[in-house]
Amino acid sequence: MPTFTFSTDRPTDQAVDVLVLPVFEGPEAGPGVKDVKGLDLLGVYAGAGFKGKRGEVLLVPNTGTDELAAKAVLLLGVGSRASADADACRRAAGRVAGQLAKRKTVATTLPQIVSGSKAPGAVQATVEGLLLGSHRFDRYKSKADGRAPQLGTVTLLGSGRTDAKGARAAKAAIERGQVIAESQAWARDLVNTPALDLPPAELAREAQAMAKKVGLTCKVWTDAELKKGGFGGILGVGQGSTRPPRLIELRYSGGRKGAPIALTGKGIAFDSGGLSIKDAQGMEWMKSDMGGAASILATMRAIALLKPKVNVIAAIPTAENMPSGSAIRPGDVLHHRGGTTSEVLNTDAEGRLVLADALAFLAEQEPRVIIDTATLTGACMIALGTDLWGAMGNDRGLISDVLAAGEAAGEPGWELPMYEPYRRLIDSDIADIKNIGKRYGGAITAAMFLREFVGDVPWVHLDIAGPAFSERAGDYWPKGATGVPVRALVAYVLSKA
Ligand code: BES
Ligand code: MN
Ligand code: ZN
Repeated sequence: MPTFTFSTDRPTDQAVDVLVLPVFEGPEAGPGVKDVKGLDLLGVYAGAGFKGKRGEVLLVPNTGTDELAAKAVLLLGVGSRASADADACRRAAGRVAGQLAKRKTVATTLPQIVSGSKAPGAVQATVEGLLLGSHRFDRYKSKADGRAPQLGTVTLLGSGRTDAKGARAAKAAIERGQVIAESQAWARDLVNTPALDLPPAELAREAQAMAKKVGLTCKVWTDAELKKGGFGGILGVGQGSTRPPRLIELRYSGGRKGAPIALTGKGIAFDSGGLSIKDAQGMEWMKSDMGGAASILATMRAIALLKPKVNVIAAIPTAENMPSGSAIRPGDVLHHRGGTTSEVLNTDAEGRLVLADALAFLAEQEPRVIIDTATLTGACMIALGTDLWGAMGNDRGLISDVLAAGEAAGEPGWELPMYEPYRRLIDSDIADIKNIGKRYGGAITAAMFLREFVGDVPWVHLDIAGPAFSERAGDYWPKGATGVPVRALVAYVLSKA
């Protein structure tokens, strides 16, 4: 387990394996660089041809400078001084996290590139960058040398001017960063786990074990209970698989009273497309189709540990979308929770079918808002690319709140319009609605399908098909699951406490 501490001691006094000091683009000395006397750190850095761009790092061993207690200095490019914010800390920290994990003790002034009221956010982001950047999914590596090293002790150095209040804020920020990053790393693990090993019932067991550990109430609805409850969408999607569906209900009570925030996420254990089957390439990463569910589980974990004064409920539908003799067919009609019927014209548009039931169930609980997140449409990836999630909803204030939370957490989204004339595209000839629109505008018609189930509760849908899974490594994530949008969701909930 890595440990993080906050200190306002001088960087040169840190007797650590590595002292990480930031360098701005130029190169220009960042906090602490000029404190190291007897070593022209900036000159060495510039001499190596580095400009201070993010990711330009240089390790300088301490070859006998008494005024420096550290064994080595790692000069870390963080980009321009003007762009120095919490996200710059997260990204720069993420870039070197893997190599820092090979050392026992580390100290850094990195968060000091941000000052004033934003300083705690930089501390939190640095912790997140270090933990997320060094996290690897190595459970399936059979040999020890294939497994990633863990961070040891990390000291985050605040400026000497930090007062007691600032130190308290920094310590709280460390805790937030640690809880959020560990939760997000867990979400990544769940998503990266092969579908073979994570059927709906197993995801539910993971949720139950987590809930027990952190003190959440958890109820898992079995398929028999779902049948009694009228959850025809979840059951319909799940009926082609030998591994039955579940609904995972979680509750956190941190507020005295008051309506809860309601959360749900798409939990398709594997999306083969069903009888409207995908091709081989389209199926390659479909173990990640429960990324929305994983991010909600992780968000609930983080909330339980951070204990904000607010109530939160989650209802997460999970099913496996498989083709078989028992699978639903194009043309079938499903009866959702609450009575709405949907005509299934494409069994690959399954996410909305399971979410419909969960949204209807959550709306019954009279929450203050509902947020859902789902790897819902390829169309959203076409519209916004792989970095942004799409936001669509029925409430201006809620949409701007989640967009702001995403921005603050370094997990940005972008709004797509609920253009009313498109609603007719999901009119069905024989049922209330059908589960596909036209090829174009597919992210929007999917959201409009979901909207049918939330009644008049303020609701926003985050389509994370793009950012949930990355086919390339980034600043603080390896190839594979990213855990998006856990940080955005936790930031939203904390902002409402
Ligand atoms: N899980 C997919 C969406 C998806 C595709 C996520 C690629 C991540 C990467 C979803 O269930 C799906 O198949 N959507 C269809 C909907 C269509 C049939 C209306 C799509 O986007 O093609
Ligand atoms: Mn699908
Ligand atoms: Zn899907």
